[in-house]
Amino acid sequence: MFVSFEGIDGSGKTTQAHMLASTLERYGGDVVLTREPGGTLLGEQVRELVLHGDHVAPWAEAALYAAARAQHVDQLIRPALGRGATVVCDRYLDSSVAYQGGGRGLGLETVLELNLTVVGGLVPDRTFLVEVRAETAAARVGATGDRIERDGIALWSRVASAYRELAERFPERYVVLDGEREVDAIAGEVLDHLR
Ligand code: ADP
Ligand code: TYD
Repeated sequence: MFVSFEGIDGSGKTTQAHMLASTLERYGGDVVLTREPGGTLLGEQVRELVLHGDHVAPWAEAALYAAARAQHVDQLIRPALGRGATVVCDRYLDSSVAYQGGGRGLGLETVLELNLTVVGGLVPDRTFLVEVRAETAAARVGATGDRIERDGIALWSRVASAYRELAERFPERYVVLDGEREVDAIAGEVLDHLR
């Protein structure tokens, strides 16, 4: 089983990904918790480049995230799924579609196509979209924030509508969660759904 968590920065998806992974581990499962950008050495290097470097052109950004993702799938996700593990991923290809395709205006379709190509068509069995208002997210993220987080609320609202479009387009894998609630209530809904 391959599960991803998506949402704008500060939506609470990292919290939920960690909670799900530890619950599944308590049940004795083989669980791989990973994140994007990241999950491999190359991925962590890309993370450093795009999140902490100077201005990156939108297509350069999209290509770097796609490169990191290709490596992630090849080196970590496919092998884990192959041995029967459950993979819980904090962000996956929908992040590129929403942020680069929607937020940066590169186009949802083009960015989706690029990403489906580099991962050989591997999409999650379930994608949990944690939805919160931009104000809630901004308050949660506070003053700390990486480069993209500083671009602020206008970008986030474009990203949020792109996620909505994805959820409507792929209802068979998308589960939309109300992220304004308590952490435990959201985690409970995730588990109920997976059961
Ligand atoms: P993301 O990965 O989406 O950026 P995080 O899980 O890192 O979000 O959460 C961002 C901040 O909000 C953290 O300080 C976290 O403790 C807090 N947080 C997460 N979920 C909730 C929630 N449901 N209600 C209130 N605060 C939350
Ligand atoms: P991360 O630090 O994991 O996000 P969060 O602050 O939500 O916990 O992600 C870093 C940033 O990278 C986040 O602003 C979204 C962005 N991003 C993209 O723009 N495209 C992508 O494909 C990915 C994976 C992330």
